Amino acid sequence: MVAIPKSKEFMLRHFRMSDSKAYFECLNDGATKHGFMDTTKNLGEAKKKIRKMIAEYNKAEPHDEYLAIEVGGEFAGYVCVDDLNKEHFKHRGGIGYCIHPKYRGNGLATKATLLITNYAFKKYRLKRMVGMCRTFNKASARVLEKAGYKLEGILRKNKCKNGKYLDDMMWAKVR
Ligand SMILES: CC(C)(COP(=O)(O)OP(=O)(O)OC[C@H]1O[C@@H](n2cnc3c(N)ncnc32)[C@H](O)[C@@H]1OP(=O)(O)O)[C@@H](O)C(=O)NCCC(=O)NCCS
Repeated sequence: MVAIPKSKEFMLRHFRMSDSKAYFECLNDGATKHGFMDTTKNLGEAKKKIRKMIAEYNKAEPHDEYLAIEVGGEFAGYVCVDDLNKEHFKHRGGIGYCIHPKYRGNGLATKATLLITNYAFKKYRLKRMVGMCRTFNKASARVLEKAGYKLEGILRKNKCKNGKYLDDMMWAKVR
């Protein structure tokens, strides 16, 4: 059993339904909507998503594991490992994160990314963790760089959003 890592500055823990409102605030923010392909549109969708996360916690081979970041008892954002347990790719996981606007610019994403990356390598016996971000998302790219991910290349016209083709940076950490 691999324990959820600890930090002196914040707590990482599994999501609770009571995180719904703050989680929705994270997603219903201009920078988040710009950086993500899609986000939840209302509180009801946010609750549904949290219910799905919680259901994954008890599975032997989950698809993902989301960790809430708590600062002084408040929900400050999340980090997650996703894309787990895919046939032929069981050695691989993806990293994701979003910080509540109120808590950005304090190094939370970088520190939590470092912690969940090490945790995921151990817990899911991974060999490769992948981080993808749009090329315009400089803050996200910097988080991955500071957390020790290496830029492997640019995936040109990798996504299509609102009729526009977008390039992605592919970052990875291997063990
Ligand atoms: C991206 C995000 C997670 C960063 O969270 P954070 O806790 O503020 O990140 P950190 O404080 O750990 O680090 C951010 C780094 O990006 C830098 N940065 C921020 N905005 C930047 C910009 N416009 N251009 C260049 N660098 C920028 C910061 O200066 C910092 O680097 P530094 O420590 O070298 O100064 C947060 O902005 C967020 O939640 N954005 C919306 C969701 C999102 O885009 N998620 C990622 C999808 S791929």
